[in-house]
Amino acid sequence: MMSIDELLNKLRKIIITYELLRSPGGRTIALPSGKGGVGKTLVTLHLSAALSLQGFSVAALDFNFALPNLQFYAKELPSTTITHYLCGLCDLDDIEYVKVKVGYSYIHVYPSKSIVDLERKIDLEKLPNLLKNVKTRYDYIVLDLSPGISKYSMYPIMLADCVFVVTADEKASYLDATKLSKILEVNGIYIKGYIVNKVEKKVRVNLDKVVCKIPFDQKIRNFPEVWSKKILKPNFLKCFVELAELVVQVC
Ligand SMILES: Nc1ncnc2c1ncn2[C@@H]1O[C@H](COP(=O)(O)OP(=O)(O)OP(=O)(O)O)[C@@H](O)[C@H]1O
Ligand SMILES: [Mg+2]
Repeated sequence: MMSIDELLNKLRKIIITYELLRSPGGRTIALPSGKGGVGKTLVTLHLSAALSLQGFSVAALDFNFALPNLQFYAKELPSTTITHYLCGLCDLDDIEYVKVKVGYSYIHVYPSKSIVDLERKIDLEKLPNLLKNVKTRYDYIVLDLSPGISKYSMYPIMLADCVFVVTADEKASYLDATKLSKILEVNGIYIKGYIVNKVEKKVRVNLDKVVCKIPFDQKIRNFPEVWSKKILKPNFLKCFVELAELVVQVC
């Protein structure tokens, strides 16, 4: 049987989460995937850029705690990051961000130092507080997650306002994406749709609820440079502008 302490602890957690979900402020967008390497990190950044260029304040958070990647695109890893906070190595107010220029606008990128390098375990129970805090400061918060189904991806998904599953345009990735969305559905989370990435010429995958098809294009890797006015806008940027418009409508 559960002790009073355990019960109180559980209740406290439920209340924090409930408060978080009810709290006004920014909308949190989670972009999970079944398979790894399908483009979550790139979608996180380009979607954040597109939302920012529509006039919203946007934060991109690295929630891939073991294998984080946002620092490569931000070109900087601050000394106090999200994982430092989650490992108890700094306070919430000490978490630093990198200001990344996209076109005539900016996004705030919050990298994470890998927990492998920190040699620490993270306390996921600190996530509601972190999200509650950033929600007061931004219109949109985009979460770059780890792939697959683990507590590290599922917990942030449960706390998010809006979920899109990312898949590459190939069968194995699509099968895992549909499995993931079924698992989410069983847990009461209904995805807003699938983002199909790395589409070459003709879409191979036939899915319901596809909200966005992003072409395979080497230029997409040149984040944030491709959003510069000087560079001729490639076709794929249109996908992100449309995705951002959809996010504003449905999230
Ligand atoms: N549309 C695209 N066209 C060309 N290359 C792409 C595209 N999308 C992603 N890539 C490339 O594919 C690789 C994986 O992308 P990314 O890191 O965004 O995937 P991920 O889902 O975040 O991976 P992980 O699961 O490891 O976090 C990167 O090298 C990236 O540059
Ligand atoms: Mg990634």
